[in-house]
Amino acid sequence: MNVLVIGNGGREHAVIQALKKSPKVDTIYAMKGNAGIAKDAVLVNVDYCDVKAVGDWVDQHKEIDFTVVTPDDPLALGLVDELESRGHRAFGPNKKAAIIEASKAFSKELMKKYNIPTAKYETFSKYEEAAAYVAECDIPVVLKADGLALGKGVLICMTREEAQEGLKEMMLDKKFGAAGSKVVVEEFLVGPEVSALAFTDGKTIKPMITSCDHKRAKDNDEGLNTGGMGTFAPAPFYGEKTAKEVMEKIMLPTVKAMNAEGRTFKGVLYFGLMKTKDGMKVIEYNSRFGDPETQVILPMLKTDLMEIFEAVVDERLDEVEIEWEDGACVCVVLASGGYPESYEKGKEITFGDLDEEVILCHAGTAEKDGKIVTSGGRVLGVCAKGADVEEARKKAYANAEKISFDGMYYRKDIGIKYRDVVKE
Ligand code: AMP
Ligand code: GLY
Repeated sequence: MNVLVIGNGGREHAVIQALKKSPKVDTIYAMKGNAGIAKDAVLVNVDYCDVKAVGDWVDQHKEIDFTVVTPDDPLALGLVDELESRGHRAFGPNKKAAIIEASKAFSKELMKKYNIPTAKYETFSKYEEAAAYVAECDIPVVLKADGLALGKGVLICMTREEAQEGLKEMMLDKKFGAAGSKVVVEEFLVGPEVSALAFTDGKTIKPMITSCDHKRAKDNDEGLNTGGMGTFAPAPFYGEKTAKEVMEKIMLPTVKAMNAEGRTFKGVLYFGLMKTKDGMKVIEYNSRFGDPETQVILPMLKTDLMEIFEAVVDERLDEVEIEWEDGACVCVVLASGGYPESYEKGKEITFGDLDEEVILCHAGTAEKDGKIVTSGGRVLGVCAKGADVEEARKKAYANAEKISFDGMYYRKDIGIKYRDVVKE
């Protein structure tokens, strides 16, 4: 079958590399793709946030049998609904279900209503009421803009002054745009963080291996928040006991809650979790594969990804046994100088002599005059597998060092985090 993958990041390149291994898949199309994806797929230049334009394109291209929607924006805009209404098969939640990521106020209310463990919170639409609350609440405190804000709508405030200033920026100065007209003010939780992703067809939920993201730009989790500077899988503190707790108290209750709300979720549910002294708690839900989590999860998948995608769409996920490799995988993101703030594009990338086994996931790359140049903040994910995280990280870094472009930077400590956390 021929498959269209929506998106143009490292995550999509990881999905495409996994689909390429499937005997079921003939040609892969990517909307819009990048210079690396161009080697594995036919690029389609349509704005994927224009859901009608995507629907028209798929209508016109009868060769497409199946579409995979990975980014949050087209999911929240209802691209899966649009494709299904035209009779096409598509993987991803519909608009009603994608709200679990698109609105933090919705997801917090869902967790409160169905007793799913999360940080205590209050939601405000009026600045004066929020300011009065923040004047008295426990500190540190976390402020979250309600809508999608590219992972940047969260402020961790260590002092009351910071919280008051942050609230003003969100609600009065509209620093995060319309996303800031409603703000969630949340209790500050402490503990190691893990991304627990799972496939679900609304009846069955099957977890993937866990992974840990590194969101800050600089080593030791310093610097600004980014889309993610690297990942490793699996999380050392997430063993069978924690997996059981998360399945019983978080994953299954979430699937049931979405059904009870008439918002059956089909696709990838991403649980951003924290292991606190009071047990596992949900920090956030995403309605999709994580980036760069996917880059370390899918290389470890033994089962045919296309078979899983089809089983989810056909609501027979219970029939598929999902298997994972032992060992670990590490992804180091190479970023443009200045990211996540302003940065220059169009820098030529040289790759050196990379080990054959390294998995390169292109993110912000483009082809220009026969050369591969940078075209985004996160440029490449250099991924490697090993018997354990240590071996995988050595291989990933040995290859990252061989790549260069003007202004390139990367964190040197991916995979070191949580070494001292008690293993499970
Ligand atoms: P989010 O965009 O919701 O993933 O938040 C970004 C990051 O902020 C998370 O990965 C956490 O590291 C941190 N964070 C969010 N909520 C909390 C919380 N209630 N307590 C502590 N840290 C948090
Ligand atoms: N890596 C975080 C995310 O995909 O939201």
